[in-house]
Amino acid sequence: MSRIYVWDLPLRIFHWALVGCVVAAIISANIGGNGFVWHFRFGYAVIVLLVFRLIWGFAGSRYARFSSFPPSPGRALAYLKDPARVPATHGHNPLGAFSVYAMLLLLCIQVGTGLFANDDVMWEGPLRQYVSDSTSALLTTVHKINRIALISLIGLHLAAIIFYTRIKKEKLVKAMISGYKDVS
Ligand code: HEM
Ligand code: HEM
Repeated sequence: MSRIYVWDLPLRIFHWALVGCVVAAIISANIGGNGFVWHFRFGYAVIVLLVFRLIWGFAGSRYARFSSFPPSPGRALAYLKDPARVPATHGHNPLGAFSVYAMLLLLCIQVGTGLFANDDVMWEGPLRQYVSDSTSALLTTVHKINRIALISLIGLHLAAIIFYTRIKKEKLVKAMISGYKDVS
């Protein structure tokens, strides 16, 4: 067994800050009323984190770079059928890679539509005034539907992590905390 450094510090801070902000954005939206002040704040924080992740996908260390985990449906499918036949990588596996891009895409849709959304009463995104009523209504609907897709994908993310930890005995969470992975 040897230890390798997979997740650099900025990526780890990004991940745990993202967890906190997304959870807080969901809770504050569900509280409603003045909770929306915080919903917007956490939503803006998610935008900053996503911009950082985009930059870090090119400027980060080896396993944080998008080039080290390309979004390939073919490889993801092959990995799903028989993980042993797909060359091992220390970063995201081909299926994990796919879910990372899906997660980032859903988050971009969520914050993008939120900027134009309105609740028909008193809260509206900062860019709401630049679009027509019907466009804002449409984007609000997308914001509401996409949150279900996002929460489902987060559920799948957690199920996958539990599977890898319990069944495959891979300490993924420890690696996302310390940055180090034990590999044979
Ligand atoms: C709101 C909830 C969450 C969101 C939005 C989220 C999002 C993400 C994203 C985007 C990545 C990819 C990291 C990268 O950019 O390269 C990731 C990876 C990871 N997340 Fe989460 N996450 C959430 C909750 C959690 C929780 C609660 C845990 C632990 C209990 C966790 C553990 C991990 C681990 C271990 C990885 C690395 C997986 C691998 O080795 O391929 N996540 N997560
Ligand atoms: C990852 C970030 C975000 C998440 C997870 C999220 C999630 C949610 C959720 C769960 C609701 C409640 C929907 C309902 O009551 O049915 C909501 C509503 C809303 N969000 Fe977001 N949101 C995010 C980002 C944003 C951003 C950046 C903005 C704007 C700055 C925004 C503006 C709004 C508005 C105006 C509503 C009210 C829509 C309505 O209730 O009709 N959101 N959001």
